[in-house]
Amino acid sequence: MIYLKTDEEIELMRASNILLGKTYAEVAKSIRPGVSTAELDKIAYEFIMDNGGRPACLNYEGYPATLCTSVNEQVVHGIPSKDQILKDGDIISIDSSIELNGWCSDSAYTFPVGDVKPEVMQLLKTTKEALYLGIEQAITGRRLGDISATIQNHCERAGYGVVREFVGHGIGRDLHEDPEVCNYGRRGNGIVLKSGMTIAIEPMITLGRRQVLVEEDGWTARTVDRKPAAHYEHSVCVRNGKADILSTFDYIKEVLGDRFI
Ligand code: MF3
Ligand code: CO
Repeated sequence: MIYLKTDEEIELMRASNILLGKTYAEVAKSIRPGVSTAELDKIAYEFIMDNGGRPACLNYEGYPATLCTSVNEQVVHGIPSKDQILKDGDIISIDSSIELNGWCSDSAYTFPVGDVKPEVMQLLKTTKEALYLGIEQAITGRRLGDISATIQNHCERAGYGVVREFVGHGIGRDLHEDPEVCNYGRRGNGIVLKSGMTIAIEPMITLGRRQVLVEEDGWTARTVDRKPAAHYEHSVCVRNGKADILSTFDYIKEVLGDRFI
């Protein structure tokens, strides 16, 4: 069941996503060598609570934290830990969701930690480009497969792996709604997009092979070959002619300055 949202509902979803963007900016201020992922999680939890939100990942199907913090070969759903200390040259993907006034947000961003190798910076850049190219397809009359194929083509052309096991999704009152938004597929396939559909588009792209496995903790997904992976995500509303991006990296950009790619 796909729910089309009213203009009022879209504005409530935007408010939730703006709070999430501001939360990531708070987290970004502390991303540096020596910080633990548990410390980043605490910053996010407190900021969301102080601003009247509910951390929507916390206790979601038993997930134990506010943020998903996935470092280097970890792809998604990494669990923050006081023993996981960031070091120079790492990358960290931050993924979370907030419920604000009954509406969910979802967005993800991969940050470099200190000086990151050029080949890994290029992975981040290409993954972010793929996200925005996919978003350009989120317009009335296009099909879901147009988004999927655009993301897949952009990343595979660069020689990267496109993760299959995790996908984007509809979003609204619930964090995960229909439809599934795959990062691989064929142009012209899938449902026709309608104005008012709200979806989270989230390419998860690997430097090496695309295969992933889930660790013993039941959550952390990492690449089998242990090469790094990147993950960028926006929540968007399908519109005529141009998608409306509800989440934002603008607050992250303010913090990163000329380190923003
Ligand atoms: N953006 C993530 C997703 O769509 C949010 C995960 S919350 C978790 O899967 F609780 F499942 F980790
Ligand atoms: Co998501």
